[in-house]
Amino acid sequence: MSEAAGVGVAERVVAWQAASGRNHLPWQQTRDPYRVWLSEIMLQQTQVSTVLDYYARFLARFPNVAALAAAPQDEVMGLWSGLGYYTRARNLHRCAQEVVAEHGGEFPRSAQVLATLPGIGRSTAGAIAAFCFSERVPILDANVRRVLTRLLGFDADLASARNERALWDHAQALLPQHDLQRAMPRYTQGLMDLGATICLPRAPLCGQCPLHASCVALRGGEPERYPVKTRKLTRRSESWQLLVLRNAKGQVWLQRRPATGIWAGMHCVPVFEDSASLHCSVRALADDVDDLSIHELQPFVHVLTHRDLHLHPVLVTGSLPSRPAHDGEWLGADQWSAVGLPAPIRKLLDTSQASLW
Ligand code: ADE
Repeated sequence: MSEAAGVGVAERVVAWQAASGRNHLPWQQTRDPYRVWLSEIMLQQTQVSTVLDYYARFLARFPNVAALAAAPQDEVMGLWSGLGYYTRARNLHRCAQEVVAEHGGEFPRSAQVLATLPGIGRSTAGAIAAFCFSERVPILDANVRRVLTRLLGFDADLASARNERALWDHAQALLPQHDLQRAMPRYTQGLMDLGATICLPRAPLCGQCPLHASCVALRGGEPERYPVKTRKLTRRSESWQLLVLRNAKGQVWLQRRPATGIWAGMHCVPVFEDSASLHCSVRALADDVDDLSIHELQPFVHVLTHRDLHLHPVLVTGSLPSRPAHDGEWLGADQWSAVGLPAPIRKLLDTSQASLW
């Protein structure tokens, strides 16, 4: 790794960000930690173009951390619906409640304390502290990891925690030294912008990069080789049987998912591990309902980060009892948006509602 790689890096990133970076995103027009935190959580696994609408809707409904903390969980999940990675929404709500209960309604002003809050990891804490308080702390999300490993020619395997820590130390050493009030937000945004627009995973635009003269990976001729991380995601497949119960009023029986695991805390139709247990449950209903009809719907696959969910929906309609299972409630289409439904379940219900059955 080259010592020279660090010379003037921060200044070049800051100057490039001012001239060529993204400067008109709504969360850049404020130093309010509530707004910056909200945007950073939404941006963790979602692209800017998708986040824009959700960000505006959240702020319209929850203009400050106290409003978010006081909201029912279902409403937060409902507003988040479609953004995915729903653990973020539950942590967002818990974090707001903790800021109110433990920090007097004010976000802590240091990355170290921010990182103790639910859903705020070291990099998100660094981003909030740098953007809002100009604290001299690094960030290291996936985009920035790519920029820095290439710049430094850092080819140690990031699957190892030791190497990951070493990269954090490099990120710290590269931070601006002067004029931190102005430089820290720009530098932080500049690294994000470089990762998102120039230092791309495939075919990076090295000719436009302000760091190209110092980039060890470019000099080596294989920037795409970085970052090095050996551990592969182990993908698993799972098969779920979905019981869509629709009563004579057109309402669907929905249950809240457990607090952990897939779609935690969201509403969903009853899920069974196998077809036999689903049909056993349907048979128990059939005894009391004389107009029961059962239709196997088209199975489909929903892809999650670590898993492929093979979903097999069965639609059961008729004059169903007021409580077909001990857990859950009947909800009509007009109520589905208010409680959080995972996007594929919402789509399934919309489609099955539109069908003639
Ligand atoms: N991704 C994560 N944080 C971001 C930000 N502040 N602006 C644009 N993209 C981001």
